[in-house]
Amino acid sequence: MELKREAISFIDFEPEAADFLSEVLDGLTRPQKSLPCKFFYDSRGAALFDEICRLPEYYPTRAEHSIIVENGAEIAALAGPSAAVIEFGSGSGLKTRALLEALETPSAYIAIDIARDALLASTRALARERPDLEVIAVCADYGAGLDRLPEIKGAAVRRLGLFLGSTIGNFEPDEAIGFLRTARALLGPGGALLIGADLWKQREVLQAAYDDSRGVTAAFNMNLLRRINRELGGNFNLGAFRHEARCVEDTRRIEMHLVSAVRQQAVIAGHRFFFGIGETIHTENSHKYTVEGFHAMARMAGFAPRQTWLDRAERFSLHYLDAA
Ligand code: TRP
Repeated sequence: MELKREAISFIDFEPEAADFLSEVLDGLTRPQKSLPCKFFYDSRGAALFDEICRLPEYYPTRAEHSIIVENGAEIAALAGPSAAVIEFGSGSGLKTRALLEALETPSAYIAIDIARDALLASTRALARERPDLEVIAVCADYGAGLDRLPEIKGAAVRRLGLFLGSTIGNFEPDEAIGFLRTARALLGPGGALLIGADLWKQREVLQAAYDDSRGVTAAFNMNLLRRINRELGGNFNLGAFRHEARCVEDTRRIEMHLVSAVRQQAVIAGHRFFFGIGETIHTENSHKYTVEGFHAMARMAGFAPRQTWLDRAERFSLHYLDAA
């Protein structure tokens, strides 16, 4: 057997082990039951999300990709040569590649993700394609563990942060500002953040993007319960919950819920939880923005918006924010 040498450096902060059970129990104990969305992405979840990104209804991935491709030269000019690219998350293969291709001789690519399998798969694939590039995979919770990242190398060069897919919208507004502040400190003076933000639009378009006709999004949402059953020895009856995407106007967000179809209970690691008919587990929010609203949020976190691009249908926005 031939052993291949790893082409990437891997730094593991081991974020999951202790946290999954305690965060699940904590979420299910609240008056409005909830589960943290960062646990969506086990290997099945990551595969389902890839499928979501190819659905006709899910426009954000294609819209953001087209913005990067069409404005690559302008992005590269802003970023300058030899930037170290730090991506928060690693589920965005095509978009990341398009950006790395557009940039002028990037010096390193560092991906930070809590989903270990997906992180390793995507960084190894990238390292094979781009032997010129130093690739570093960091397994960490970027919501909480960002402050540990200065330990990683690539510190000397100018840093370009990458936060794609409107993942910023999965935070509550105050958490989003907190994340942006920490990211800004990590990127340092002279650094910048390239960040995607989905735009508020007609309810029907949003609704379809988060509740597709083939049921892939439903399977993705439901996978969280499946994962609890498998990894934490839970006994959720998967057939007795259904996926719901709610478009909520006053908070300008889509809420993902799992709705209990019957009166039932579930046991996880000796803890028993009761569900009434129609009671929901809130699994994720996806906030939508206006360009002005997004700039205001970026400024509150200390960023200076430098340039904003939209796709041709004006559904999605990509922002270049100076960390200055
Ligand atoms: N960041 C993605 C978004 O908000 C995540 C996502 C897409 C998602 N579809 C989903 C999360 C369905 C939960 C369920 O668009």
